[in-house]
Amino acid sequence: MKVAVFSTKPHDREYFDAAGSDHEFRYFENRLRAETAGLAKGCQAACVFVNDEVDRDTIRELAAGGVGLIALRCAGFNNVDLAAAADHGVRVMRVPEYSPHAVAEYCLALLLAANRHIHRAYSRVRDGNFELKGLLGFDLHGKTIGVIGTGRIGLIFCKLLSGFGVRVLASDPYPNEAAVAAGASYVPLEQLLAESHVITLHCPLTPATHHLIDDEALSRCRDGVLLVNTSRGGLVDTAAVIRSLKSGKIGGLALDVYEEESGIFFENLSDVVIDDDRLMRLMTFPNVLVTSHQAFFTAEALSNITSVTLDNLDAYERGETDLATEVRS
Ligand code: NAI
Repeated sequence: MKVAVFSTKPHDREYFDAAGSDHEFRYFENRLRAETAGLAKGCQAACVFVNDEVDRDTIRELAAGGVGLIALRCAGFNNVDLAAAADHGVRVMRVPEYSPHAVAEYCLALLLAANRHIHRAYSRVRDGNFELKGLLGFDLHGKTIGVIGTGRIGLIFCKLLSGFGVRVLASDPYPNEAAVAAGASYVPLEQLLAESHVITLHCPLTPATHHLIDDEALSRCRDGVLLVNTSRGGLVDTAAVIRSLKSGKIGGLALDVYEEESGIFFENLSDVVIDDDRLMRLMTFPNVLVTSHQAFFTAEALSNITSVTLDNLDAYERGETDLATEVRS
């Protein structure tokens, strides 16, 4: 089967080629958008990633060119118009779980780095500045950590916290007994916001969770709250967090995702003027740590992404239906 692979990075090519599949991969560095969908003409599948824009126009172009499958190399599918895919008879498959450990571990790394200002300390000592001023953190021990979303990643994150001597509050419309066994207590979101010293997001981006963290939510938080987002940028209203950083309501912010990251994250823009005033403003705060959607980026995760994606392509080619990896509107 011919497969157009969009948003290809060297590691995607390396892992797909090493897997030795029978499919013919056509690698494109381009992000998939309506304007680039024509590249997939003659292919039966389009393989896409988190920042590809798989909207109705894109899907119409893909379907017109013969694509019958959109194979996501990720878990989240918020960037795919599922209703449009159904209308055009295009199936959508994803990799529901490639390494929840990768993301949960990275989230903990970001939390610790932001709290203890490791990012600033790193640059400081390299510049010969060994001063501690501005690097004051707080003990996690004895603090309250709020976990919003206790699915695969949130649950592992709760388990990782078990060694820190913290109180864990959780919020999820579908409480998870395993999270309770790991020490978390489910409480209403308002209580989690009001009592947590640290809040971390692990729920999917949906219309209901868009800007879950906005001015109103932030007004309920403790002064100096540390907010971590390794889920999807759209969960956080960036303008609202900038206001809360300026007022001191937010004491620390660690983001691996950003609502306007598409076209910026994963790219080397060091030679160009970046035309995103909000992101640039965010990065001027000393207590903000931004990384470029790398929580998933471990060897184990890339291996799993590759093998599940290849399984999805094989299953589609064999005409199999009712797959656990298929997403529908
Ligand atoms: P999952 O589907 O296993 O868990 C999501 C949980 O969120 C579920 O328990 C669900 O009930 C809960 N939820 C839904 N709406 C909620 C709400 N309004 N409030 C609280 N909880 C709510 O998903 P998983 O695998 O744990 O992934 C979570 C998210 O992490 C994904 O949706 C994806 O956006 C993101 N992610 C980010 C990566 C990165 O590299 N930064 C990599 C992989 C995933």
